[in-house]
Amino acid sequence: MRFQLAVAALLAGGLLQAADVAASSQTTFSRDVLPVLQKNCQGCHRPGQIAPMSFLSYKDARPWAKAMKTAVLSRKMPPWSADSRYGPYLNDRSLKQPEIDAIVRWADGGAPEGDLKDAPPAVSFPEGWLIQPDVIVEGPVTDVPASPKNNVLEWITVIMPTGFTKDTWVTSVQIKPEHAAIAHHICIGYVPHQPNVKYGLGVWADLPRDAEGAAMPEKGPTFVGRGQGRAAENPDAAAIFAESGISGGSAQDCYLPGNVAADYRPLNAAKLIPAGYDIVFNVHYTPNGTAATDHVKVGFTVAKEPPRRRYVSLLISAPTDSKTFAIPPNDPNWQSPHAEATFREDVELVYMMPHMHVRGKDTTWTLEYPDGRKQVVLDVPHYDFNWQMGYDTSIRVPKGTRLRVDAHYDNSLNNKFNPNPSRTVYYGQMTWEEMMSPFFGVVVDPGADVHKLIDSPVAFVSGGA
Ligand code: HEC
Repeated sequence: MRFQLAVAALLAGGLLQAADVAASSQTTFSRDVLPVLQKNCQGCHRPGQIAPMSFLSYKDARPWAKAMKTAVLSRKMPPWSADSRYGPYLNDRSLKQPEIDAIVRWADGGAPEGDLKDAPPAVSFPEGWLIQPDVIVEGPVTDVPASPKNNVLEWITVIMPTGFTKDTWVTSVQIKPEHAAIAHHICIGYVPHQPNVKYGLGVWADLPRDAEGAAMPEKGPTFVGRGQGRAAENPDAAAIFAESGISGGSAQDCYLPGNVAADYRPLNAAKLIPAGYDIVFNVHYTPNGTAATDHVKVGFTVAKEPPRRRYVSLLISAPTDSKTFAIPPNDPNWQSPHAEATFREDVELVYMMPHMHVRGKDTTWTLEYPDGRKQVVLDVPHYDFNWQMGYDTSIRVPKGTRLRVDAHYDNSLNNKFNPNPSRTVYYGQMTWEEMMSPFFGVVVDPGADVHKLIDSPVAFVSGGA
Protein backbone atom coordinates (compact mmCIF):
# COMPACT_ATOMS: atom_id res chain seq x y z
CA MET A 1 0.00 0.00 0.00
CA ARG A 2 1.71 3.23 -1.06
CA PHE A 3 0.66 6.80 -0.64
CA GLN A 4 0.18 8.15 -4.12
CA LEU A 5 0.65 11.82 -4.71
CA ALA A 6 -1.74 11.55 -7.62
CA VAL A 7 -5.29 12.68 -7.07
CA ALA A 8 -8.01 10.25 -6.20
CA ALA A 9 -10.02 8.21 -8.62
CA LEU A 10 -12.67 10.93 -8.74
CA LEU A 11 -11.23 11.91 -12.09
CA ALA A 12 -11.43 8.52 -13.68
CA GLY A 13 -15.16 8.41 -14.47
CA GLY A 14 -15.36 11.89 -15.91
CA LEU A 15 -12.28 11.30 -17.95
CA LEU A 16 -13.65 8.42 -19.99
CA GLN A 17 -16.79 10.41 -20.79
CA ALA A 18 -14.68 13.39 -21.71
CA ALA A 19 -12.71 11.24 -24.11
CA ASP A 20 -15.95 10.15 -25.87
CA VAL A 21 -17.13 13.70 -26.24
CA ALA A 22 -13.68 14.75 -27.40
CA ALA A 23 -13.86 12.43 -30.36
CA SER A 24 -16.59 14.61 -31.83
CA SER A 25 -15.15 17.99 -30.86
CA GLN A 26 -11.76 19.56 -30.41
CA THR A 27 -9.49 18.02 -27.78
CA THR A 28 -8.31 20.74 -25.43
CA PHE A 29 -5.80 21.10 -22.65
CA SER A 30 -8.27 22.41 -20.09
CA ARG A 31 -10.91 19.76 -20.54
CA ASP A 32 -9.11 16.66 -21.78
CA VAL A 33 -5.40 16.80 -21.02
CA LEU A 34 -5.04 18.60 -17.70
CA PRO A 35 -7.01 15.94 -15.77
CA VAL A 36 -4.59 13.29 -17.06
CA LEU A 37 -1.55 15.37 -16.17
CA GLN A 38 -2.93 16.00 -12.68
CA LYS A 39 -3.57 12.36 -12.01
CA ASN A 40 -0.54 10.75 -13.68
CA CYS A 41 2.22 13.29 -14.24
CA GLN A 42 2.23 16.24 -11.84
CA GLY A 43 3.40 14.01 -8.98
CA CYS A 44 6.85 14.38 -10.63
CA HIS A 45 6.29 17.18 -13.16
CA ARG A 46 5.96 20.19 -10.90
CA PRO A 47 8.48 22.64 -9.44
CA GLY A 48 10.78 21.14 -6.83
CA GLN A 49 10.22 17.55 -8.00
CA ILE A 50 12.41 15.17 -9.95
CA ALA A 51 11.18 15.82 -13.50
CA PRO A 52 13.03 18.62 -15.29
CA MET A 53 9.86 20.42 -16.46
CA SER A 54 6.55 21.37 -14.89
CA PHE A 55 3.17 20.40 -16.31
CA LEU A 56 1.06 22.45 -13.90
CA SER A 57 -0.14 25.07 -16.35
CA TYR A 58 -0.94 25.31 -20.02
CA LYS A 59 1.94 27.72 -20.51
CA ASP A 60 4.42 25.26 -18.98
CA ALA A 61 3.04 22.18 -20.68
CA ARG A 62 2.35 23.54 -24.18
CA PRO A 63 5.98 23.40 -25.44
CA TRP A 64 6.09 19.71 -24.50
CA ALA A 65 3.00 18.61 -26.42
CA LYS A 66 4.86 16.64 -29.10
CA ALA A 67 7.31 15.16 -26.58
CA MET A 68 4.38 14.11 -24.38
CA LYS A 69 2.75 12.37 -27.30
CA THR A 70 5.94 10.43 -28.00
CA ALA A 71 6.51 9.62 -24.35
CA VAL A 72 2.99 8.31 -23.71
CA LEU A 73 2.77 6.37 -26.98
CA SER A 74 6.01 4.57 -26.23
CA ARG A 75 4.86 4.20 -22.61
CA LYS A 76 8.12 5.69 -21.45
CA MET A 77 6.00 8.04 -19.35
CA PRO A 78 4.72 7.77 -16.74
CA PRO A 79 7.48 5.37 -15.64
CA TRP A 80 5.75 2.03 -15.08
CA SER A 81 7.25 -1.25 -16.21
CA ALA A 82 4.65 -3.94 -15.48
CA ASP A 83 2.80 -5.51 -18.40
CA SER A 84 -0.85 -4.53 -17.93
CA ARG A 85 -2.08 -7.98 -18.99
CA TYR A 86 -1.30 -9.08 -15.44
CA GLY A 87 -2.20 -7.40 -12.21
CA PRO A 88 -4.13 -5.37 -11.16
CA TYR A 89 -1.57 -3.41 -9.15
CA LEU A 90 -2.87 -1.09 -6.47
CA ASN A 91 -0.23 1.54 -7.23
CA ASP A 92 -0.60 1.34 -11.03
CA ARG A 93 0.05 4.73 -12.53
CA SER A 94 0.16 3.76 -16.18
CA LEU A 95 -2.23 5.51 -18.58
CA LYS A 96 -5.44 3.95 -19.86
CA GLN A 97 -5.85 3.90 -23.63
CA PRO A 98 -8.42 6.79 -23.71
CA GLU A 99 -5.94 8.92 -21.73
CA ILE A 100 -3.16 8.21 -24.21
CA ASP A 101 -5.57 8.95 -27.06
CA ALA A 102 -6.50 12.30 -25.49
CA ILE A 103 -2.87 13.44 -25.30
CA VAL A 104 -2.16 12.27 -28.84
CA ARG A 105 -5.26 13.99 -30.29
CA TRP A 106 -4.43 17.17 -28.40
CA ALA A 107 -0.84 17.24 -29.69
CA ASP A 108 -1.94 16.42 -33.24
CA GLY A 109 -4.65 19.08 -33.14
CA GLY A 110 -2.23 21.92 -32.45
CA ALA A 111 -2.32 21.64 -28.65
CA PRO A 112 -5.09 24.20 -27.99
CA GLU A 113 -5.80 25.47 -24.50
CA GLY A 114 -9.60 25.42 -24.80
CA ASP A 115 -12.00 27.03 -22.37
CA LEU A 116 -10.58 27.68 -18.91
CA LYS A 117 -14.04 26.97 -17.49
CA ASP A 118 -13.57 23.32 -18.47
CA ALA A 119 -10.42 22.98 -16.39
CA PRO A 120 -10.53 21.04 -13.12
CA PRO A 121 -9.33 22.91 -10.02
CA ALA A 122 -5.58 22.77 -9.39
CA VAL A 123 -4.47 19.83 -7.27
CA SER A 124 -2.81 20.62 -3.98
CA PHE A 125 0.11 18.33 -3.35
CA PRO A 126 0.97 17.73 0.28
CA GLU A 127 4.57 18.47 1.17
CA GLY A 128 6.55 17.18 4.12
CA TRP A 129 5.30 14.29 6.21
CA LEU A 130 2.31 12.46 4.80
CA ILE A 131 2.23 10.20 7.81
CA GLN A 132 2.38 11.72 11.29
CA PRO A 133 5.53 9.96 12.42
CA ASP A 134 5.86 8.81 16.02
CA VAL A 135 9.58 8.33 15.50
CA ILE A 136 11.97 10.06 13.13
CA VAL A 137 15.28 8.35 12.37
CA GLU A 138 18.16 10.35 10.92
CA GLY A 139 19.28 9.13 7.52
CA PRO A 140 22.45 9.97 5.65
CA VAL A 141 23.61 13.46 4.71
CA THR A 142 24.91 13.63 1.15
CA ASP A 143 26.66 16.44 -0.66
CA VAL A 144 25.23 16.45 -4.16
CA PRO A 145 27.29 18.50 -6.59
CA ALA A 146 25.70 20.88 -9.11
CA SER A 147 26.78 18.56 -11.87
CA PRO A 148 28.90 15.54 -11.21
CA LYS A 149 31.81 14.29 -13.18
CA ASN A 150 30.43 12.78 -16.40
CA ASN A 151 26.80 13.53 -15.47
CA VAL A 152 26.37 10.55 -13.23
CA LEU A 153 26.44 10.27 -9.49
CA GLU A 154 26.78 6.63 -8.56
CA TRP A 155 24.42 4.95 -6.14
CA ILE A 156 25.63 5.39 -2.62
CA THR A 157 25.19 2.88 0.19
CA VAL A 158 25.21 4.15 3.77
CA ILE A 159 24.38 2.52 7.09
CA MET A 160 22.67 4.39 9.93
CA PRO A 161 21.37 3.20 13.30
CA THR A 162 17.63 2.94 13.94
CA GLY A 163 18.17 3.91 17.55
CA PHE A 164 15.44 1.40 18.47
CA THR A 165 16.37 0.09 21.89
CA LYS A 166 13.50 -2.41 21.93
CA ASP A 167 11.65 -4.48 19.33
CA THR A 168 9.35 -2.04 17.53
CA TRP A 169 6.22 -2.70 15.47
CA VAL A 170 6.00 -0.07 12.77
CA THR A 171 2.76 0.53 10.88
CA SER A 172 3.96 2.95 8.20
CA VAL A 173 7.26 4.22 6.87
CA GLN A 174 8.03 7.42 5.02
CA ILE A 175 11.49 8.07 3.63
CA LYS A 176 11.87 11.81 3.19
CA PRO A 177 14.68 13.51 1.29
CA GLU A 178 15.07 17.23 1.91
CA HIS A 179 15.49 18.01 -1.79
CA ALA A 180 12.92 16.08 -3.79
CA ALA A 181 14.15 17.73 -6.98
CA ILE A 182 17.35 15.66 -6.95
CA ALA A 183 16.32 12.52 -5.07
CA HIS A 184 15.74 9.92 -7.77
CA HIS A 185 15.15 7.13 -5.33
CA ILE A 186 16.10 6.02 -1.85
CA CYS A 187 15.67 2.42 -0.77
CA ILE A 188 16.18 1.04 2.70
CA GLY A 189 16.55 -2.34 4.33
CA TYR A 190 16.89 -3.32 7.98
CA VAL A 191 19.90 -5.36 9.02
CA PRO A 192 21.25 -6.73 12.30
CA HIS A 193 23.88 -4.49 13.81
CA GLN A 194 27.44 -5.51 12.98
CA PRO A 195 30.29 -4.49 15.24
CA ASN A 196 32.41 -3.22 12.33
CA VAL A 197 29.84 -0.85 10.94
CA LYS A 198 30.83 2.75 10.33
CA TYR A 199 27.69 4.83 10.42
CA GLY A 200 27.22 7.58 7.88
CA LEU A 201 30.08 6.53 5.65
CA GLY A 202 28.96 6.51 2.03
CA VAL A 203 30.31 3.73 -0.12
CA TRP A 204 29.98 3.57 -3.86
CA ALA A 205 31.63 2.26 -6.97
CA ASP A 206 33.52 4.88 -8.88
CA LEU A 207 32.81 3.58 -12.37
CA PRO A 208 34.51 5.26 -15.29
CA ARG A 209 31.85 6.96 -17.46
CA ASP A 210 31.86 8.70 -20.80
CA ALA A 211 30.59 12.24 -21.34
CA GLU A 212 27.01 11.02 -21.74
CA GLY A 213 27.11 9.12 -18.52
CA ALA A 214 27.24 5.63 -19.99
CA ALA A 215 29.54 3.39 -18.06
CA MET A 216 32.75 2.74 -19.97
CA PRO A 217 34.74 -0.45 -20.26
CA GLU A 218 36.03 -1.09 -16.82
CA LYS A 219 39.38 0.14 -15.76
CA GLY A 220 38.75 -1.51 -12.48
CA PRO A 221 36.15 0.15 -10.31
CA THR A 222 37.27 1.65 -7.05
CA PHE A 223 35.47 2.02 -3.79
CA VAL A 224 35.16 5.50 -2.44
CA GLY A 225 34.17 6.43 1.05
CA ARG A 226 32.87 9.94 1.64
CA GLY A 227 35.73 12.13 2.71
CA GLN A 228 37.94 9.11 3.00
CA GLY A 229 39.70 8.95 -0.31
CA ARG A 230 39.95 5.93 -2.50
CA ALA A 231 39.94 2.39 -1.35
CA ALA A 232 43.52 1.98 -2.42
CA GLU A 233 44.48 4.70 0.02
CA ASN A 234 42.03 3.65 2.64
CA PRO A 235 40.83 0.07 2.66
CA ASP A 236 38.11 0.92 5.16
CA ALA A 237 35.40 1.55 2.62
CA ALA A 238 36.00 -1.69 0.78
CA ALA A 239 36.29 -3.52 4.06
CA ILE A 240 32.87 -2.27 5.04
CA PHE A 241 31.34 -4.13 2.16
CA ALA A 242 33.29 -7.23 2.90
CA GLU A 243 32.93 -7.34 6.65
CA SER A 244 29.69 -5.75 7.60
CA GLY A 245 27.47 -7.53 5.12
CA ILE A 246 26.18 -4.36 3.49
CA SER A 247 23.63 -5.38 0.97
CA GLY A 248 23.93 -3.19 -2.06
CA GLY A 249 20.43 -4.30 -2.95
CA SER A 250 18.49 -3.71 0.22
CA ALA A 251 15.09 -2.50 -0.77
CA GLN A 252 12.39 -3.35 1.72
CA ASP A 253 10.94 0.13 1.37
CA CYS A 254 11.71 2.78 -1.20
CA TYR A 255 11.15 6.45 -1.74
CA LEU A 256 10.35 7.01 -5.38
CA PRO A 257 9.14 10.32 -6.77
CA GLY A 258 5.36 10.35 -6.53
CA ASN A 259 5.37 7.20 -4.42
CA VAL A 260 6.72 8.18 -1.11
CA ALA A 261 5.57 6.04 1.80
CA ALA A 262 4.61 2.50 2.69
CA ASP A 263 1.53 2.12 4.83
CA TYR A 264 0.73 -1.21 6.43
CA ARG A 265 -2.32 0.14 8.30
CA PRO A 266 -4.85 -0.56 5.52
CA LEU A 267 -3.58 -4.16 5.69
CA ASN A 268 -4.14 -4.20 9.46
CA ALA A 269 -0.50 -5.09 9.70
CA ALA A 270 2.77 -3.94 11.20
CA LYS A 271 6.41 -4.77 10.58
CA LEU A 272 8.74 -5.78 13.38
CA ILE A 273 12.07 -4.01 13.53
CA PRO A 274 14.15 -5.78 16.15
CA ALA A 275 15.98 -3.81 18.81
CA GLY A 276 19.32 -2.43 17.73
CA TYR A 277 18.86 -3.06 14.02
CA ASP A 278 20.56 -0.74 11.54
CA ILE A 279 19.18 0.70 8.32
CA VAL A 280 21.03 0.28 5.03
CA PHE A 281 20.27 3.18 2.71
CA ASN A 282 20.73 3.07 -1.04
CA VAL A 283 20.52 6.60 -2.34
CA HIS A 284 20.48 7.70 -5.94
CA TYR A 285 20.66 11.41 -6.68
CA THR A 286 20.34 13.09 -10.07
CA PRO A 287 22.07 16.49 -9.87
CA ASN A 288 20.19 19.33 -11.58
CA GLY A 289 22.68 22.19 -11.78
CA THR A 290 22.36 23.44 -8.22
CA ALA A 291 24.58 21.94 -5.56
CA ALA A 292 22.71 20.78 -2.47
CA THR A 293 23.29 18.91 0.72
CA ASP A 294 20.50 16.42 1.15
CA HIS A 295 19.52 15.17 4.55
CA VAL A 296 17.30 12.11 4.53
CA LYS A 297 14.95 11.30 7.38
CA VAL A 298 12.81 8.23 7.92
CA GLY A 299 9.52 8.60 9.76
CA PHE A 300 7.69 5.68 11.34
CA THR A 301 4.30 5.31 12.91
CA VAL A 302 4.50 2.78 15.72
CA ALA A 303 1.77 0.34 16.78
CA LYS A 304 0.38 1.05 20.24
CA GLU A 305 -0.73 -2.55 20.64
CA PRO A 306 0.33 -5.83 19.06
CA PRO A 307 -0.85 -5.90 15.43
CA ARG A 308 -3.57 -8.23 14.12
CA ARG A 309 -1.33 -9.21 11.22
CA ARG A 310 2.37 -9.07 10.48
CA TYR A 311 4.03 -7.57 7.42
CA VAL A 312 7.15 -9.51 6.43
CA SER A 313 9.67 -8.45 3.81
CA LEU A 314 11.32 -11.38 2.06
CA LEU A 315 14.24 -11.71 -0.29
CA ILE A 316 15.14 -14.73 -2.37
CA SER A 317 17.72 -15.21 -5.06
CA ALA A 318 18.81 -17.19 -8.06
CA PRO A 319 21.79 -19.42 -7.31
CA THR A 320 24.80 -17.16 -6.83
CA ASP A 321 27.76 -19.46 -7.43
CA SER A 322 30.03 -18.58 -10.32
CA LYS A 323 29.42 -21.87 -12.15
CA THR A 324 25.66 -21.39 -12.36
CA PHE A 325 25.46 -17.63 -12.47
CA ALA A 326 27.86 -16.42 -15.14
CA ILE A 327 26.60 -14.16 -17.91
CA PRO A 328 28.68 -14.80 -21.04
CA PRO A 329 30.27 -11.88 -22.89
CA ASN A 330 28.10 -10.28 -25.61
CA ASP A 331 25.06 -12.43 -24.85
CA PRO A 332 21.98 -10.27 -25.59
CA ASN A 333 19.47 -12.57 -23.88
CA TRP A 334 21.02 -14.75 -21.20
CA GLN A 335 18.51 -16.74 -19.19
CA SER A 336 19.35 -16.71 -15.53
CA PRO A 337 18.73 -19.76 -13.37
CA HIS A 338 15.40 -19.05 -11.70
CA ALA A 339 14.69 -18.05 -8.12
CA GLU A 340 11.96 -19.82 -6.19
CA ALA A 341 10.28 -20.05 -2.85
CA THR A 342 7.58 -22.40 -1.58
CA PHE A 343 5.24 -20.96 1.04
CA ARG A 344 4.89 -23.05 4.17
CA GLU A 345 1.96 -20.98 5.46
CA ASP A 346 -1.08 -19.27 3.96
CA VAL A 347 -0.01 -15.71 3.18
CA GLU A 348 -1.31 -12.62 1.43
CA LEU A 349 1.20 -11.49 -1.19
CA VAL A 350 1.08 -7.68 -1.13
CA TYR A 351 4.28 -6.38 -2.73
CA MET A 352 6.68 -7.45 -5.46
CA MET A 353 9.91 -5.78 -6.46
CA PRO A 354 12.33 -7.18 -9.02
CA HIS A 355 15.96 -6.40 -8.39
CA MET A 356 18.67 -6.75 -11.00
CA HIS A 357 21.51 -4.46 -12.01
CA VAL A 358 22.41 -2.70 -15.25
CA ARG A 359 22.28 -5.83 -17.42
CA GLY A 360 18.83 -6.85 -16.17
CA LYS A 361 16.49 -7.16 -19.17
CA ASP A 362 13.18 -8.74 -18.23
CA THR A 363 11.57 -10.73 -15.44
CA THR A 364 8.45 -12.83 -14.96
CA TRP A 365 6.92 -13.89 -11.65
CA THR A 366 4.66 -16.95 -11.58
CA LEU A 367 2.66 -18.55 -8.78
CA GLU A 368 2.31 -22.32 -9.09
CA TYR A 369 -0.57 -23.40 -6.87
CA PRO A 370 -0.77 -26.77 -5.13
CA ASP A 371 -3.54 -27.82 -7.57
CA GLY A 372 -1.14 -27.29 -10.48
CA ARG A 373 -2.66 -24.01 -11.68
CA LYS A 374 -0.11 -21.41 -12.80
CA GLN A 375 -0.66 -17.67 -12.64
CA VAL A 376 1.69 -14.99 -13.90
CA VAL A 377 1.49 -12.26 -11.27
CA LEU A 378 4.12 -9.89 -12.65
CA ASP A 379 5.78 -9.47 -16.01
CA VAL A 380 8.32 -6.72 -16.60
CA PRO A 381 9.25 -6.90 -20.27
CA HIS A 382 11.76 -4.01 -20.17
CA TYR A 383 13.43 -3.87 -16.81
CA ASP A 384 14.95 -0.48 -15.99
CA PHE A 385 17.55 -0.43 -13.25
CA ASN A 386 17.14 3.31 -12.79
CA TRP A 387 13.53 3.07 -11.65
CA GLN A 388 13.47 0.73 -8.66
CA MET A 389 9.79 -0.01 -9.05
CA GLY A 390 7.69 -2.07 -6.70
CA TYR A 391 4.21 -3.37 -7.40
CA ASP A 392 1.42 -3.47 -4.80
CA THR A 393 -1.03 -6.30 -5.04
CA SER A 394 -3.32 -8.44 -2.91
CA ILE A 395 -3.19 -12.15 -3.67
CA ARG A 396 -4.18 -14.93 -1.28
CA VAL A 397 -1.50 -17.57 -1.55
CA PRO A 398 -2.29 -20.95 0.01
CA LYS A 399 0.36 -22.97 1.79
CA GLY A 400 2.28 -25.19 -0.63
CA THR A 401 2.25 -22.65 -3.46
CA ARG A 402 5.55 -22.04 -5.24
CA LEU A 403 6.68 -18.61 -6.42
CA ARG A 404 8.97 -18.88 -9.43
CA VAL A 405 10.87 -15.89 -10.78
CA ASP A 406 12.57 -15.97 -14.18
CA ALA A 407 14.82 -13.32 -15.68
CA HIS A 408 16.97 -12.49 -18.68
CA TYR A 409 20.06 -10.30 -18.98
CA ASP A 410 21.48 -8.29 -21.86
CA ASN A 411 25.27 -8.32 -21.82
CA SER A 412 25.58 -6.98 -25.37
CA LEU A 413 26.53 -3.58 -26.75
CA ASN A 414 22.84 -2.86 -27.44
CA ASN A 415 22.39 -2.31 -23.74
CA LYS A 416 23.47 1.29 -23.28
CA PHE A 417 23.95 0.83 -19.53
CA ASN A 418 26.41 -2.02 -20.10
CA PRO A 419 29.85 -1.00 -18.86
CA ASN A 420 31.62 -3.85 -20.61
CA PRO A 421 30.05 -6.41 -22.98
CA SER A 422 33.28 -8.39 -23.34
CA ARG A 423 33.35 -9.53 -19.76
CA THR A 424 31.74 -12.53 -18.07
CA VAL A 425 29.54 -11.16 -15.31
CA TYR A 426 29.15 -12.92 -12.00
CA TYR A 427 26.86 -12.47 -9.04
CA GLY A 428 27.68 -9.65 -6.65
CA GLN A 429 26.39 -6.68 -4.75
CA MET A 430 28.04 -4.00 -6.83
CA THR A 431 26.50 -2.42 -9.89
CA TRP A 432 29.09 -3.86 -12.29
CA GLU A 433 28.24 -7.29 -11.00
CA GLU A 434 24.76 -8.74 -11.30
CA MET A 435 22.00 -9.73 -8.96
CA MET A 436 18.78 -11.65 -9.38
CA SER A 437 17.13 -11.11 -6.09
CA PRO A 438 13.38 -10.64 -6.01
CA PHE A 439 12.03 -8.76 -2.99
CA PHE A 440 8.47 -9.30 -1.88
CA GLY A 441 6.16 -8.48 0.98
CA VAL A 442 3.62 -10.80 2.57
CA VAL A 443 1.15 -10.43 5.39
CA VAL A 444 0.74 -13.28 7.88
CA ASP A 445 -0.68 -14.04 11.31
CA PRO A 446 1.45 -12.49 14.04
CA GLY A 447 2.15 -15.94 15.46
CA ALA A 448 3.73 -17.24 12.24
CA ASP A 449 7.40 -18.16 12.43
CA VAL A 450 8.79 -15.69 9.90
CA HIS A 451 12.04 -17.58 9.56
CA LYS A 452 10.15 -20.64 8.35
CA LEU A 453 7.68 -18.89 6.06
CA ILE A 454 9.32 -20.07 2.87
CA ASP A 455 11.43 -22.92 1.61
CA SER A 456 13.99 -21.82 -0.92
CA PRO A 457 16.91 -23.78 -2.37
CA VAL A 458 19.25 -20.82 -2.14
CA ALA A 459 20.59 -20.12 1.30
CA PHE A 460 20.53 -16.40 0.56
CA VAL A 461 17.10 -15.87 2.12
CA SER A 462 16.19 -13.12 4.48
CA GLY A 463 13.56 -14.02 7.01
CA GLY A 464 12.83 -10.36 6.96
CA ALA A 465 12.50 -7.83 9.67
C1 HEC B 1 7.80 9.11 -11.36
C2 HEC B 1 8.04 10.42 -11.87
C3 HEC B 1 7.43 10.80 -13.20
C4 HEC B 1 6.12 10.70 -13.60
C5 HEC B 1 4.93 10.16 -12.80
C6 HEC B 1 6.07 11.23 -14.94
N1 HEC B 1 7.31 11.64 -15.33
FE1 HEC B 1 7.81 12.41 -17.16
N2 HEC B 1 9.76 12.52 -16.57
C7 HEC B 1 10.25 12.19 -15.33
C8 HEC B 1 11.68 12.40 -15.31
C9 HEC B 1 12.60 12.16 -14.11
C10 HEC B 1 12.04 12.87 -16.58
C11 HEC B 1 13.42 13.25 -17.09
C12 HEC B 1 14.37 12.13 -17.20
C13 HEC B 1 13.85 10.94 -17.94
O1 HEC B 1 13.50 11.09 -19.13
O2 HEC B 1 13.78 9.86 -17.34
C14 HEC B 1 10.81 12.92 -17.34
C15 HEC B 1 10.74 13.31 -18.67
C16 HEC B 1 9.58 13.48 -19.41
C17 HEC B 1 9.50 13.99 -20.75
C18 HEC B 1 10.70 14.43 -21.59
C19 HEC B 1 10.96 13.58 -22.76
C20 HEC B 1 11.38 12.21 -22.42
O3 HEC B 1 10.76 11.27 -22.93
O4 HEC B 1 12.35 12.04 -21.66
C21 HEC B 1 8.19 14.01 -21.12
C22 HEC B 1 7.59 14.49 -22.44
C23 HEC B 1 7.43 13.50 -19.99
N3 HEC B 1 8.30 13.20 -18.97
C24 HEC B 1 6.07 13.35 -19.97
C25 HEC B 1 5.36 12.80 -18.92
C26 HEC B 1 3.93 12.63 -18.92
C27 HEC B 1 3.00 13.05 -20.08
C28 HEC B 1 3.60 12.05 -17.74
C29 HEC B 1 2.23 11.60 -17.27
C30 HEC B 1 1.41 10.91 -18.22
C31 HEC B 1 4.83 11.87 -16.98
N4 HEC B 1 5.88 12.34 -17.72
C32 HEC B 1 4.90 11.29 -15.72
C33 HEC B 1 9.52 11.69 -14.26
C34 HEC B 1 8.17 11.40 -14.30
